[in-house]
Amino acid sequence: MDPEQIFMGLLGPEGMADPYPLYAALREHGQVVSAGQGFVLVPGYEAANAVLRDLEYLVDDAAYLDDAFPGLRDHPALSAESLLNLNGADHTRVRTLMARRFTHRRVRALEPAIARIADTLLDAMADAGSDGSPVDFMREFAFALPVAVIAELVGAADWNRETLKVQARKLTAILEPFADESELAAADAAAVDLSAMFAALAAERLAAPRDDLASALAAVAEREPGRLSEAELIENLTLVLIAGFETTTNLLGNGLRIMLDNEPAADGLRSGAVLAADFVEEVLRYDAPVQQTGRRRRSPGVLDGVEIAAGDQLVVMLGAANRDRSRFAHPDEFRPGRADAGPLSFGAGAHFCLGAALARLEGSVAFCKLLARFPGIQAAGEPVRRKGLTFRGFEQLPVTLG
Ligand code: HEM
Repeated sequence: MDPEQIFMGLLGPEGMADPYPLYAALREHGQVVSAGQGFVLVPGYEAANAVLRDLEYLVDDAAYLDDAFPGLRDHPALSAESLLNLNGADHTRVRTLMARRFTHRRVRALEPAIARIADTLLDAMADAGSDGSPVDFMREFAFALPVAVIAELVGAADWNRETLKVQARKLTAILEPFADESELAAADAAAVDLSAMFAALAAERLAAPRDDLASALAAVAEREPGRLSEAELIENLTLVLIAGFETTTNLLGNGLRIMLDNEPAADGLRSGAVLAADFVEEVLRYDAPVQQTGRRRRSPGVLDGVEIAAGDQLVVMLGAANRDRSRFAHPDEFRPGRADAGPLSFGAGAHFCLGAALARLEGSVAFCKLLARFPGIQAAGEPVRRKGLTFRGFEQLPVTLG
């Protein structure tokens, strides 16, 4: 198969069901593969890691979008003031402010809240499945836990979580390649609503600060607007919601699916022979919640022998890099605790995921509690995959609780 055919396959139902054989076919063409029309695919671990760590490769920032796609940023969903759309000094300025809220200590301080929320959700699951009928793990747990945890972190614990979930899902749609007009319109409406909600929250926290992200960022934006503009304040609060939500939801769903399919891994976790942290790390590698991200080359150059023109769009294929046999021994086998761990699932370099420690903690707490509470949990019918290529996970994952 030629690279274009493989890429088209990835975008279709075959790729959505199981992209890994297509990734392997792509890697046969090299670590870096030109797909024509200014697109370059990066399925190899070494090359993907290098791109993410090299400041020659940029994210699409406001100046670039205004130049290349005039008017695009009029869409509220695409206004591009968040960390994911900042390069260089602007990125460092905002990231430094935000990183203070994601220190090891602060993440650890969220553990009791995570445990409390997980217990409440497991109680509700137990009620729903008490007569032996199937329960949808995605709806009852995997969608609910991350959004509640982020609400705690940001300072929006008393907001309606269902509203947050629905709005965040609509906005997340624009992170997929080829979002259609109706998805874009829904994302715009969600962006407007979420901006209004976060602006109101920031104003409240400015008047009466608490120990949360909204209070910390609102204070900086008010006192030192040169360090954080109003737009950056609102967009980065929104970013934390959408960046930490479906990603972690997919980690939970993908992990449970592996647990249900892989008896030895589940037994190991139950008996304590497999550490929860190792299990989570291997889920992240084996079936990455975020399969790809994008970069643009600043000036012409060569990457792994492939010529790249200025402005070429690179598709950095995290899910493919995680199965690269030149980096991982037996990459298609699920081996928690592997000596060569180190997936690219949270990215690398300047934009490395700010919430990685939080997501890992949520995963460890959730899988331990789930197995302790429902040792006989089993699959109950075929799961339904969510649509899309960037995010990989399930829409529905029915289980019986045993
Ligand atoms: C399993 C769960 C998660 C996965 C797989 C994940 C994945 C990623 C990836 C791949 C990136 C880098 C994107 C790029 O370089 O283009 C990223 C960035 C980011 N993530 Fe996560 N993420 C997860 C959970 C979270 C959580 C829980 C939060 C916050 C509560 C969060 C907040 C962020 C933020 C703010 C960025 C932007 C960092 C920057 O641009 O400097 N993520 N994430």
